[in-house]
Order: sequence, then C-alpha cells, then structure tokens
Amino acid sequence: MIKGFIFDLDGVITDTAEQHYVAWKRLSDENGWEFDREVNDKLRGISRLDSIKVILDHNGLTMDEETMANLAAKKNEKYVESLDDITPDDFLPGTKELLTHLRTEGFHVALGSASKNASKVLQQLNALGYFDIIGDGNSVTESKPDPAIFLYGAEKLGLQPEECIVFEDAESGVDAAKAGGFHSVGIGPKERVGHADLRFDTMEDATLFEIKSYFKDLF
Ligand code: BG6
Ligand code: MG
Repeated sequence: MIKGFIFDLDGVITDTAEQHYVAWKRLSDENGWEFDREVNDKLRGISRLDSIKVILDHNGLTMDEETMANLAAKKNEKYVESLDDITPDDFLPGTKELLTHLRTEGFHVALGSASKNASKVLQQLNALGYFDIIGDGNSVTESKPDPAIFLYGAEKLGLQPEECIVFEDAESGVDAAKAGGFHSVGIGPKERVGHADLRFDTMEDATLFEIKSYFKDLF
C-alpha cells in the first residue's frame, strides 16, 4: 500500500536546478574552466563538494580538499544570493496542485533533498506546510546515489520504503530510490531518468490520477 511520497527539491518542486547551473557557470567562467549544461546534468542530485570534483575532473584538474571546499563555498554564495528572488509563484507547473492533492487525500509527504539550502528554498516558496518531514543535506552524510536521505524520510514518516513513492529529476536520485527499495517517478528525459518505474517529461504531467493508474495495485 502506498502511504507516502518523498520529493526531491531542486528540479522537482522548483527550477533551482537552473540556479545551481548559473552559479556553477559563473564560478567556472571566473576560473577559466569549461562548464556546460551537459556537465551540469551530472551534478543533479549530488552534493556541493561532489559537484566541484566532477567539474574539476571534466577540466583535467586536481586540487586539495581545502581549495575545493573554498571554491564550493564561493559557488554557494552566488547560489544563495539568487534564492532571494524565489517567490511562491516559482513552483514548477503542476507541483503545487499535486502537493495539495496529496494533502487532501491524507498521504504522508517528506522532502528528500541533497541541498543544505532546502529550508530557505521552501520558505521562499511558502511550501513548508506541504511537508510533514524535511530531509535535506544536513540530515544525512551519505550523498545520492546512496539511499540514506530517502530512508531517513521514510523512517521519520514511520513508513517502509515499499510504502513510498520517490519523485526525482536526477539520475543519481532515481538510483538512490531504487537502491533503497522505493517506488520511483522520474521527472525529465529518458536518458536521465528512464530507469525510474514511471517517467514524466514534466511535473505538470505527473497528476495523482496518472500515478494511481500506473501503480494501481499499490493504492
Ligand atoms: C541537489 C542539487 O538538490 O542539491 C545539486 O540537485 C546540488 O545540484 C545539491 O549540488 C546540494 O545543494 P546545496 O544547496 O547544498 O549546494
Ligand atoms: Mg533534483
């Protein structure tokens, strides 16, 4: 029986995946590194420090941990600045409707994000009320594709993984959901999240009706 839903944040609830891209692009330009949207797609779902490692690797560069941490902090300053512009109008289309529908039907809902800025983003959106539990980059140490953040959410909701559906826009996030024994919904192109149980191009397509139709034996 499906009793709960666990949502990733960036790229599922709101389009902060784009703001992460812009901040990494600015840092890359300042440092003369090559960085494009294809590389950015590999950063979806993974932690800030893991992200800078991917970018340096793409540029054939190595740095000590302290330098990497300082550079990642600079990216975060740029990213956090951009969060002030987020308003309650910035839910991805369809997301607010789905969250409202889940509330109306009495499902348990958790956030399962790798971001340490998740609370700030949810505050800007005025979205905290849609979630029973907030799991973010401060809740666990292991990063996606490790399932730790989703297991944290399920445990706090008092549910088993097989009683929850995870929503993800990241390849590493779908990997994490599957590794934890969760049902999964991928948001985005087949090349990125085609390995999810069910996939939609956008959150607008991901209605509760469609989800119940697909997982019909579980509701
Ligand atoms: C994830 C994003 O949600 O959070 C990643 O998809 C990001 O791109 C990660 O690196 C960590 O975010 P933050 O806000 O802690 O730097
Ligand atoms: Mg995401």
